[in-house]
Amino acid sequence: MEVLICDTYDDLSKAAFKVMKKVIDEKPAAVLGLATGSSPVGLYQEMVKDHKENGTSYKDVKTYNLDEYVGLDRNDPQSYWTFMNENLFSGIDIDPANTHVPYGDTAEDAKAYDDEVKGVDIQLLGIGNNGHIGFNEPGTPFDARTHIVELTESTREANKRFFDNDITKVPTHAISQGIGTVMDADSILLIANGAGKADAVKAMIEGEVTEECPASILQKHPKVTVILDKEAASKL
Ligand code: GLP
Repeated sequence: MEVLICDTYDDLSKAAFKVMKKVIDEKPAAVLGLATGSSPVGLYQEMVKDHKENGTSYKDVKTYNLDEYVGLDRNDPQSYWTFMNENLFSGIDIDPANTHVPYGDTAEDAKAYDDEVKGVDIQLLGIGNNGHIGFNEPGTPFDARTHIVELTESTREANKRFFDNDITKVPTHAISQGIGTVMDADSILLIANGAGKADAVKAMIEGEVTEECPASILQKHPKVTVILDKEAASKL
């Protein structure tokens, strides 16, 4: 695991962009595993800026997102589908047919998505305050594939800021790539910023590998880059 600590969120986003750009430069038909949440917004801005200024092309790139809420329409302002289109896809020259965000609420929907996610060159991840990756909450088996998840109170609490600060509006379930699916990626890039992530980051990097901290499994992946700001790294 390579750990890089940056002074600011802006520096973190630029450093993450460098890692992502290298993959695309080496393989114009790269398969990118993408994530939502506030952590990757700066990286996506760097990707859009670079596409506009330097012409980096995504026309042969495919993307697979990690997760989606259950029960929200695709076009709901808070769906991860909408998030991806607003923050990245609309700003680059990617073919919409090459972008994939899981959708559905049954085991069959989950299995169908899992079967599609193949050959990911780089998987981008954020981390939840409780160490979750994707929506794999503490206690999720490490070998789980894409599945329907019941969200914990703490995750719904953390995400209510996107739902008028009203936890009753936050979906109770999500469809998420499993940790087994995530671990199949050739390489992983995890980014985290802010003091609220410091405990989860410490447990991920220095703690024991346990299902109680889903991100701790990354210690076992052969090619992981973790990029943090000073606050997220403050307990290391
Ligand atoms: C959400 C997402 C995760 C994300 C995490 C952290 O619950 N499902 O993929 O990494 O929360 O979000 P943020 O980056 O906004 O802190």
